[in-house]
Amino acid sequence: MAYPTTRLRRLRGTAAIRNMVRETVITPHDLIMPVFVTCGTGIKEEIASMPGVYHFSLDLLDAEIDEIAALGIPAIVLFGVPETKDAVGSSAFEEDGIVQRATRQIKARHPELLVIADTCLCQYTDHGHCGMIHVHEANGVKTGIVDNDESLAYLVRTAVSQAAAGADIIAPSNMMDGFVHAIRAGLDEAGFESVPIMSYSVKYASAFYGPFRDAAHSAPQFGDRKTYQMDPANAREALREAEADVAEGADMLMVKPAMAYMDIIRTLKEQFDLPVVAYNVSGEYSMIKAAARLGWIDEKAVTLELLVGLKRAGADTIITYHAKDAARWLKEAE
Ligand code: PBG
Repeated sequence: MAYPTTRLRRLRGTAAIRNMVRETVITPHDLIMPVFVTCGTGIKEEIASMPGVYHFSLDLLDAEIDEIAALGIPAIVLFGVPETKDAVGSSAFEEDGIVQRATRQIKARHPELLVIADTCLCQYTDHGHCGMIHVHEANGVKTGIVDNDESLAYLVRTAVSQAAAGADIIAPSNMMDGFVHAIRAGLDEAGFESVPIMSYSVKYASAFYGPFRDAAHSAPQFGDRKTYQMDPANAREALREAEADVAEGADMLMVKPAMAYMDIIRTLKEQFDLPVVAYNVSGEYSMIKAAARLGWIDEKAVTLELLVGLKRAGADTIITYHAKDAARWLKEAE
């Protein structure tokens, strides 16, 4: 059938009919809020490039978590800013590490809220890389090779310590080869066989992480992450990354960043039957906040459009710094 028999505008005439035929609906249940926890006391410090996102010391954390839970957001991802850093990232896997302490505190107060632990070393290593590094210095220029297999043992220790502290889900973001296999084996051996792995399967070496690295003090001290994070130009390689993680026992597949990678979200959704997670990263958030502050865009409308777009593209759940704002707007609209 074609025009004039077919008139597509018939189903757009009123709000009621648009509501009836809407294909994708975003709710607070679709959202995961990242939370930055830091050592010390009395700290609630806004991240300059991420308005509305703060570093919290543990004594000031409860109010933030209460607010997230009250908004109906089911999960948070925890990022730690430790007091000390060393070559192997020891503060990532100490029993009283900042993420471990925060996890215990949150789970005691909100047992139903899912705590997802980001498993990586870059915030905890003095060189700022996500794994163990062998440094060479020639003519004052430092270069380093990240040792894949050596890094796995430290990542496993980190994941197990996070699970022991009560983390509900382990989310490894380090992009070493074989990390899902190693962490799955480590968790199982430690008795955490029912803790799922949300794998950062397809993580690109992206400039959109800029504000996060300021926030988490995790920028590499030299070099970049291009030997382990993916080339933004590659889509077929994303399938290989995801296939590897599925074979190694991942429970969920993540695509990160989100906005410039919606084709990858869609492809993973079609090619695999695991839940797909989209990580709407720091730089994506900052762009919207900045444009909104300048009065150039309507923040609420743009944010909700972005989130529904990510879900329509295939995301089953979305990690986003907009989670609290979006949940509030969605509740107001009810
Ligand atoms: C740690 C990690 C990063 C992000 C999440 N986990 C930074 C990076 O890889 O440099 C980025 C999150 C964001 O930009 O919002 N490896």
